[in-house]
Amino acid sequence: MSSGTANGSSMELGECIRNTGFHEDDKTEDAVGGDEENRTSTVRMSPGGEEDTYTQIKPYAGMPKEVLLLYSGQARYRLPREILFWLTVASTLALVALTITVVVLSPRCLSWWQSSPVYQIYPRSFKDSDSDGIGDLKGIVDKLDHFQYLNIKAIWISPFYKSPMKDFGYDVEDFRDIDPLFGSMQDFDDLLAAMHDKGLKLIMDFIPNHTSDTHKWFNLSSSGHPQYKDYYIWTNCNTTHAPNNWVSVFGNSSWTYVEERQQCYYHQFLKEQPDLNFRNPHVRREMTEIVRFWLEKGVDGFRMDAVKHILEAKHLRDEPQVDPQQDPDTIDTEFELHHDYTTTQLGLHDILQDWRGEMDVYSREPGRYRFMVAESYDYEETEKTMMYYGTPYVKESDFPFNFYLMDLPTNLTGTGAQGLVNLWMANMPVGKWPNWVVGNHDKPRISSSVGQDYIKVINMLLLTLPGTPTTYYGEEIGMVNINVTIDEIQDPFGKFNPNASRDPQRSPMQWSDGPNAGFSDANHTWLPMHPHHTTVNVEAQQKDSGSVLSQYRALSLLRQAQLPLHRGWMCYVWSDADVFAFLREIDGLDKAFLVVLNFGADSVINLSAITELPEKLTLHMSTKQENYGMPVIKSSISTARGEGLLLEYSTHVRFNPGHASQCFVSEKACYLGVLDILYKC
Ligand code: GLC
Ligand code: MG
Repeated sequence: MSSGTANGSSMELGECIRNTGFHEDDKTEDAVGGDEENRTSTVRMSPGGEEDTYTQIKPYAGMPKEVLLLYSGQARYRLPREILFWLTVASTLALVALTITVVVLSPRCLSWWQSSPVYQIYPRSFKDSDSDGIGDLKGIVDKLDHFQYLNIKAIWISPFYKSPMKDFGYDVEDFRDIDPLFGSMQDFDDLLAAMHDKGLKLIMDFIPNHTSDTHKWFNLSSSGHPQYKDYYIWTNCNTTHAPNNWVSVFGNSSWTYVEERQQCYYHQFLKEQPDLNFRNPHVRREMTEIVRFWLEKGVDGFRMDAVKHILEAKHLRDEPQVDPQQDPDTIDTEFELHHDYTTTQLGLHDILQDWRGEMDVYSREPGRYRFMVAESYDYEETEKTMMYYGTPYVKESDFPFNFYLMDLPTNLTGTGAQGLVNLWMANMPVGKWPNWVVGNHDKPRISSSVGQDYIKVINMLLLTLPGTPTTYYGEEIGMVNINVTIDEIQDPFGKFNPNASRDPQRSPMQWSDGPNAGFSDANHTWLPMHPHHTTVNVEAQQKDSGSVLSQYRALSLLRQAQLPLHRGWMCYVWSDADVFAFLREIDGLDKAFLVVLNFGADSVINLSAITELPEKLTLHMSTKQENYGMPVIKSSISTARGEGLLLEYSTHVRFNPGHASQCFVSEKACYLGVLDILYKC
């Protein structure tokens, strides 16, 4: 075949014949002959040849392009092809739109610090692994199963830094080292790895306000080293007169004279805990590097200690007396002054926000959110505490600890309990996450102040309120304060004021009825065990379905498993001298819960007026009885003294829409039953 022929064909077939590939095919097919000849002959037609010859050839696999193009233009091939094309385009667009809708409408999943209670370990008292009578890091590793049993993921461990232990670790000698009493840095790394293996998160104490007086910075500062002289707060004074009337939280003047420097330094706590000078940028940088050091190691969060004390007024003027008539020379406790110049100074929140920023850098990896909780007691100054939530535009702590429920012992009524809950809910900035604390290493155990009868109902309150509960070790089994005689006092604050000693709430954890309650094999533990450990201990309570521990565990599991408890509305429905009742519901889900808590005497309440509640509810859990599944009539809900009830009910009518002022929700979401998903609403 001559190229002329090919060119001639090209004129008839238009664009398609210009394909050089076709020429090649043509030649090959010529050579093959037979059937092939048949097909190619139709292509090899003369100028002006009959085009409709092509139309008689059926399309076949491997047909030349020309034939293909001839058919592909025909309506019966073109139409289905176009339909298919547009269908593909439409379904791709629909899929993209659906994905965007799902992403936009999905509520944020709760983070680990929201979905689990926070458990506080006081490491001296949790578990001793080396038989010296003092708890340690390896001891914690031995007991990690306890948290899996309790369905707790977030563990805050009080300080284990190198320390002379004047304030049991809140006096830090080296922020980058572990105290040998608790173990080594290797033990810490092992603990963190073991915790992460089990899906547990570790929250550390960070103590920015002060160091120990044995910290190298303080030694250098005392001797006037040019680089360190302003690391602490120094001022001129003489041995007999403090520079001003400021007093320490632990009592007496907050100034101590140093002969070597012939000046006084400031300490908000013990004299062995000199306050760092955060107006010195070097100090800020050093402390930020320490935050980074632990973030690099992989810790999951910080409890920021004593934050309101971080800055003091530079002018050092006397603070106003609470009683202006009081003889100034007799002032020696924090309660006698208004702390206008020693707490919550301008600039404090910038410091915390900087650290939050550092933590955010380490929070970007999925599942590695770094959590911050701030500790600040601002008696009757709720707005000061709430500031630690940050602003809508600038993040700070995830929450400041809510200590209001610690006042339950002096407000032990249904109305009292509601009042304390409301103090937080009504003042918390919109969109923030609440939290609840009833005890820690600084406050007497609540079980001792309210009495044994109310231990279970308090745990039920803690675990059924919206937000994160914090549990101080031992609260899950109802541990109470120990008695410590004056000569046995360990706490330095207790040595100043025995009535304020914090030893009673720091006694060793009661694991079993064995020697030292299974806490230690030592002959002598750093604080005595509570004598009731033979009956109040983890081992015994695990076997008893009605124990404080079993109920704690059941509530912790329910809190996670039941959507209304996990992230639903909380609405107050009743409070009187004995009972506080609230409901938990989530829009879109018919299942809801009514929580009835008795903080007084035996009582019967009538909730008929709450028309959104059905006549009949079902007993899901009681702290006193075990007949679960029993029907309860809303007009007559009885609770015994200290009893807590969790009642389940089903309804199509939600309570919150008509009672906005009684209801609260954080991380609001609605449930879509057909798809079994949550969506933003
Ligand atoms: C915090 C701690 C407390 C400690 C104090 C000084 O308030 O909770 O135990 O004594 O700070 O660091
Ligand atoms: Mg030990």
